[in-house]
Amino acid sequence: MAEYLLEMRGIVKQFDGVRALNGIDIKMKAGECIGLCGENGAGKSTLMKVLSGVYPHGTWDGEILWKGEPLRAQSIRDTEDAGIVIIHQELMLVPELSVAENIFLGNEITLPGGRMDYAAMNRRAAEILTWLNIHDVNVVEPVKKYGGGHQQLIEIAKALNKRAQLLILDEPSSSLTASEIEVLLNIIRRLKAEGVTCVYISHKLDEVEAICDTIVVIRDGQHIATTPMSDMNVDRIIAQMVGREMNQLYPQRAHAPGEVVFEARNISCYDADNPARKRVDNISFSLRKGEILGIAGLVGAGRTELVSAIFGAYPGAHEGEVWLDGRKLDTGTPQKAIKAGLAMVPEDRKQHGIVPDLSVGQNITLSVLGQYARATRIDQEAELKTIKAEIASVKLKTASPFLPITGLSGGNQQKAVLSKMLLTKPKILILDEPTRGVDVGAKFEIYQLMFDLAAQGMSIIMVSSELAEVLGISDRVLVIGEGQLRGNFDNDNLSQETVLAAALDQA
Ligand SMILES: Nc1ncnc2c1ncn2[C@@H]1O[C@H](COP(=O)(O)OP(=O)(O)OP(=O)(O)O)[C@@H](O)[C@H]1O
Ligand SMILES: [Mg+2]
Repeated sequence: MAEYLLEMRGIVKQFDGVRALNGIDIKMKAGECIGLCGENGAGKSTLMKVLSGVYPHGTWDGEILWKGEPLRAQSIRDTEDAGIVIIHQELMLVPELSVAENIFLGNEITLPGGRMDYAAMNRRAAEILTWLNIHDVNVVEPVKKYGGGHQQLIEIAKALNKRAQLLILDEPSSSLTASEIEVLLNIIRRLKAEGVTCVYISHKLDEVEAICDTIVVIRDGQHIATTPMSDMNVDRIIAQMVGREMNQLYPQRAHAPGEVVFEARNISCYDADNPARKRVDNISFSLRKGEILGIAGLVGAGRTELVSAIFGAYPGAHEGEVWLDGRKLDTGTPQKAIKAGLAMVPEDRKQHGIVPDLSVGQNITLSVLGQYARATRIDQEAELKTIKAEIASVKLKTASPFLPITGLSGGNQQKAVLSKMLLTKPKILILDEPTRGVDVGAKFEIYQLMFDLAAQGMSIIMVSSELAEVLGISDRVLVIGEGQLRGNFDNDNLSQETVLAAALDQA
């Protein structure tokens, strides 16, 4: 038996001249839970795609030893056969197929003669979910019936069905609620007890600290250190990730909001599938010039629905009024809202934020393309100048504006979406979970950017599930619970407990 379950030696991966991985060496022992940490764009996902056969042998340099033997996978299928399974950063489920069909996708159980054995697949799928302690998912229902958290758990069920010996989880928790994260961490603990080795990637370092035995930090495509968690803490992980001590997570700022410029009055939203159910119940609030308003609450409380309705992007029936500078706005559609001076960066970047077929630059100027239209052509020179200025101003890491946006790391895609909305020069900027999947250093940069924008007079509404973040940067905090406004606090030594109690209605 080899000492290490896995060794990766001198891994180099290039994309069109960009060295994403620059000679990485990593070793993993069986049964460990390894936290793979690094800033956005450090190469975590790329390294795991090399390992899992997404990038076949021959498209990268270096060597992988699996149980002491060279692994030269041509496809994911090959690595799965070996026992290496990856759960990707972006979910890969097919929404229209049933839960069981998704769990068995590509691994279908067939009857003699080749027909699908649905009964067996449903039974086995239900067994796996029961093992995972998930009791509120019906395996014959289509996956799209379930929310992001449950879908993530279904992905895990799918991975377990492949009998993983090494399970790679790339940002599995970014769309989970606190209680779902607990479920996930417990599942990993149980897998560990059964001898499964895990690689856990997350920008939520408290989770990494809670679950991992060993921390591997990479930076700019290079291995920085492998350290037992017992010798580490969150601050040390951060220092290794960014290459310096970060003694504050939030920039300093004077609170100096001006007069009230914006009002949302009596906003109600009705469930798109079940119009009798109110998702947002008669919420009103105001916003001052240059103010940063944090909206806190549990996932599912109605925060995204509230801000989507304000921006004209809520898919179901809704009512209420939106006022800016003393005028009632027509925000029936996002286009109208943008014209009126609003902008929103949505929570789900993959569905609503980026256009995957376009380049980084094209994504950035998408919302203002009209500005570069001349009589018969697009003024590409002016467009490129703007793109370059934006890339610099949000510190977006990309080798070139012409790369496909899907080639950017998660956090940098987020910055591209932010740039796109900033170019519309909004008076009111709505950010829904702006730092999801964003590393600590880049978070700091996004906060600084928000502070600069606020100082220039922009008013910002930020929905965030990270309470520390809401308290770290907001002037005022709205708390939403079950569709209702449960609190409207000045952020003056406001405590997490106060906000949580309001969210849970225990005030
Ligand atoms: N398909 C691709 N084409 C071009 N460049 C790519 C591609 N995939 C990744 N890259 C580049 O490789 C580098 C590493 O990206 P990767 O996605 O591995 O980062 P990451 O550590 O997973 O970041 P994040 O925390 O944001 O998910 C980045 O500079 C990225 O832009
Ligand atoms: Mg990644």
